[in-house]
Amino acid sequence: MQHRMPLHDLPVSPLAHRERLFNPKTKSHHGEMINMEWGMKNRLSQLIQKDGKALFLPIDHGYFQGPTHCLEKPGETIKPIWQYADALMMTRGVLRNCIDPTIQKPIILRVSGAVTVVGEDLANESIVTSIQEILRLNAMAVSMSVFVGTKYENKSLTNLAKLVDYCEEYGIPVMAVTSVGRELEKREARYLALVARVSAEIGARVVKTYYCKEKFEKVIEGCPVPVVIAGGPKTETQLEVFEFVYDGMQKGAIGVNLGRNIWQTENPLASIRAIRAVVHEGYTPKEAQDLFEKVKAGKA
Ligand code: R5P
Repeated sequence: MQHRMPLHDLPVSPLAHRERLFNPKTKSHHGEMINMEWGMKNRLSQLIQKDGKALFLPIDHGYFQGPTHCLEKPGETIKPIWQYADALMMTRGVLRNCIDPTIQKPIILRVSGAVTVVGEDLANESIVTSIQEILRLNAMAVSMSVFVGTKYENKSLTNLAKLVDYCEEYGIPVMAVTSVGRELEKREARYLALVARVSAEIGARVVKTYYCKEKFEKVIEGCPVPVVIAGGPKTETQLEVFEFVYDGMQKGAIGVNLGRNIWQTENPLASIRAIRAVVHEGYTPKEAQDLFEKVKAGKA
């Protein structure tokens, strides 16, 4: 085993985030509110595990790009891997039609959309799912995209505020899936930190951001709620994923919301098991790569 940075040396440790989330002092004395708080805490505790970390598996990509490669049949895609995730993220359409309702896994429901890759502007999203539907589907959390630095910045942030308002009423956490303008050009800490912080200020309970090599800790330090890292387009090698997930977690992310770099890879089972080991067991990239090879060879 290689040396790992002790938790207390992290800029913001995942455990500190969890303690903040579940601090009993935040309890209200108003009876009804205690119930609300209990619901919120219960849901968050099902998403963020006892070690303060989380692996979310998103399969929501079809909501704007149609039958995405390897996600043509989402139910089939996740069959071998869902059990290694802490929660699954998808739209109501995929949930209802492709997922067994007896599944014992928290669902993060994507509730923004109504744009497509052939439309005018992907940032022009609306909220497409009602609170009644969110409750009916027993969502553990909801997610929506937030686009800062675009023509639709105000609409997007107002949507977030409204969603937070109606979800908080029922103790449902909102995860902001953040992007900045032409995201690839602006995947820099200062922009990522801006959108993460703004989303948390508006009320998101969890923020999903992209990873950046330089100063990623600034994104974490400036965001008062837990941050998870998205994978983005499939990388050339599996090791690259282990490296950025490891580095992001060393810098204080609590985990990942990672899709294509799991289910579009040559061996999704080996990928998710190795990424899970990085997230929950602190495996180094090299250890993760070894585990990946072993699972691939049927030896683990
Ligand atoms: C975008 O389609 C979704 O919000 C995804 O859930 C998010 O981008 C994470 O997925 P990936 O790791 O494939 O980027």
